[in-house]
Amino acid sequence: MPRDPVSGKLTIGSVSPRLAVPENITRPEYVGKQAPAKFNGSNIKTPEQISKIRAAGKVAAQAIDLVGQNAKPGVTTDQLDKLAHEFIISNSAYPSTLGYRGYPKSICSSINEVICHGIPDDTTLVEGDIVNIDITAFLDGYHGDSNQTFLVGEVSQEVSDLVDRTREALARGIASVAPGREVNLIGRTIESYAKRFGYGVVRDFTGHGIGESFHSGLIIPHYDSAPQFADVMEVGMVFTIEPMLTLGTHEWQMWSDGWTVLTKDKSITAQFEHTIVVTETGAEILTLP
Ligand code: MF3
Ligand code: CO
Ligand code: CO
Repeated sequence: MPRDPVSGKLTIGSVSPRLAVPENITRPEYVGKQAPAKFNGSNIKTPEQISKIRAAGKVAAQAIDLVGQNAKPGVTTDQLDKLAHEFIISNSAYPSTLGYRGYPKSICSSINEVICHGIPDDTTLVEGDIVNIDITAFLDGYHGDSNQTFLVGEVSQEVSDLVDRTREALARGIASVAPGREVNLIGRTIESYAKRFGYGVVRDFTGHGIGESFHSGLIIPHYDSAPQFADVMEVGMVFTIEPMLTLGTHEWQMWSDGWTVLTKDKSITAQFEHTIVVTETGAEILTLP
């Protein structure tokens, strides 16, 4: 639906009314407020806290899989949002993005040149698109955050390579995690892999500490940021890694909706995300179905 008839690039769509969440589902503290409270707790979690993040992460991961199975030509991103919303609330969880700093939907759906934070609307998926589905679930007081990029029907080789290599960039970032290392090593690992293919590596949107809060203040870069972001990984530390790679520039622009982030050159971009915990020997993924 909303695409430029000449370029085929996306244009702003229309967003449906806000979906309801049953009263008995606990909301995160920020819902109904302009911004979340500042997080003053620790990024290092206890085994009990990690179990709760894993449970929230499982709901998020299952919702992403469900949406991915339905990301076919002809479906709108609004329909995908509704599907995820119903799934999340049916698991007694709250869709963390709904009402986060005023964000109006339960998922982010970012198509083609949209880097992240695409708002579900009346845009219809078409063959050859890629769409990132980013879902965070809040369950029993804890958030789990994950995303995947899906191919819609058959996609060009160049674009499907980008998607495969972005998935691999996340895997390599996770493999670089170990106690005693600085978090900027994760970024260096991702960037050096992406540079082999000449991809742009988005810098201004990063991984983050997560748990009781959605974004704790801990920043995980996806590029070599040294000497910035020198936090040392410790056993029990929980954060996301969520690289965004592009076929062109790493520079971005935002739509007037205040959310949708696109590549400045409208090049195609992909992303994958997991929430992980640092272990004695490396990392454990907490957002598995
Ligand atoms: N899930 C996104 C992340 O990975 C954040 C989305 S915030 C929203 O950090 F408000 F845009 F939904
Ligand atoms: Co995240
Ligand atoms: Co996310």
